[in-house]
Amino acid sequence: MVDFTLTDEQKNLRDLAHDFAEKEIRPVAWEYDKDGTWPQDIIDKAHDVGLMNTHVPEEYGGPGLSHLDGTIIEEELAWGCSGIQTSLGANGLASAPVTIAGSDEVKREFFGELVESPKLASFCLTEPGAGSDVSGMRTKAVRKGDKYVLNGSKCFITNGQYADWFTVYAKTDMDAGHRGISAFLVRRDDTVVIDKKEDKMGQRASNTATVTFNDTEVDAKYMLGEENRGFKVAMQTLDFTRPGVAAMAVGIGRAAFEFACDYSKERVQFGVPIAMHQAIQFMIADMGTKLHAARLMTWNAATLLDQGNRNTLESSHAKRFAADSAMEITTDAVQIYGGYGFIKEYPVEKLMRDAKIMQLYEGTSQIQRLVIARETLLPRRAEAPTATAA
Ligand code: CAA
Repeated sequence: MVDFTLTDEQKNLRDLAHDFAEKEIRPVAWEYDKDGTWPQDIIDKAHDVGLMNTHVPEEYGGPGLSHLDGTIIEEELAWGCSGIQTSLGANGLASAPVTIAGSDEVKREFFGELVESPKLASFCLTEPGAGSDVSGMRTKAVRKGDKYVLNGSKCFITNGQYADWFTVYAKTDMDAGHRGISAFLVRRDDTVVIDKKEDKMGQRASNTATVTFNDTEVDAKYMLGEENRGFKVAMQTLDFTRPGVAAMAVGIGRAAFEFACDYSKERVQFGVPIAMHQAIQFMIADMGTKLHAARLMTWNAATLLDQGNRNTLESSHAKRFAADSAMEITTDAVQIYGGYGFIKEYPVEKLMRDAKIMQLYEGTSQIQRLVIARETLLPRRAEAPTATAA
């Protein structure tokens, strides 16, 4: 049976996240965007009310919410501000490899820290020379006794400057391509240098930094999964988290859609509110349809994971469609505002800038198409994810 009705618990979660977005995020979102302010105050409050680390299972002290629950929360918080939501949600991305491949001991230690206090963790995959092409990474991990020694640089790392620990991918066999990558949990210490805080077009309240490992020692017990099997952990992680990015794209699009609807009812041209003109009505209709479809695709991709199924195809469908739709919807919102849409004093200009990153991070829209084409032409359905929380 297909049922898109939310349970009472899910409606309550949505209300909690919406109230938080409305009271704590929206009032400062445009100001934090302008100055690139780090939202530590909001992170602390979100942690307090239980809107962070929702993926952590109950046995490790978290609320153990489902993937679908996560997307409901992510849409609401991104409706408030997707830059601030990226800061709040990055622990989910850093933790997914732990969920997928971590031992019980490691989960207890690292998840325990996240739920105890508002600590942050970062996911370190991308390198200056290895963005879409993950297997081209050059960061190296060399085994020395019961430790690995890491050297290399990761870029575009969300929350990099503020993270206490990092999920890091490094080559343990330089000549084996994707079959030579391993995943590690790395604690921040003096050998980890954080620099180059990026000055971004959008999501300016989120922190994006370069993280460099200089002879950084990691206990062998902090390897996630088997040696040289890290590439698959990374791919499974992205299957877990791309529905969350899709949900954020829906949140951004919805915010722009609501602003555009309100404005079109107020703005009078040719003697009537512009909402009375069919040119505007058709734009509003298309924006609404895209939002509706993107949300359903997002919920579908998340639900498959909750059911223990592999969702590679659906995750890429959702992420690609929701991201491209958010870009189109926010661009149309600016168009509906006319010249005022181009002015920073009005709200939709920020949303258009924020939407752009949806088509870039956690795999560009072109990479999503590549995954969709491969999954369609050469389906690899056999390997289901090993855990259900993200
Ligand atoms: N689940 C399980 N296994 C998978 C898989 C999946 N979803 N996808 C691929 N694999 C397996 C394949 O079966 C194959 O296995 P074998 O070794 O047994 O043959 C192996 O992994 C290699 O797969 P491919 O041949 O498809 O690998 P590829 O090198 O062609 O790359 C890719 C595939 C889809 C392009 C991948 O590199 C990719 O997703 N790139 C985008 C990276 C990305 O999204 N980066 C975002 C960084 S995080 C971020 O942005 C957040 C932030 O903080 C800013």
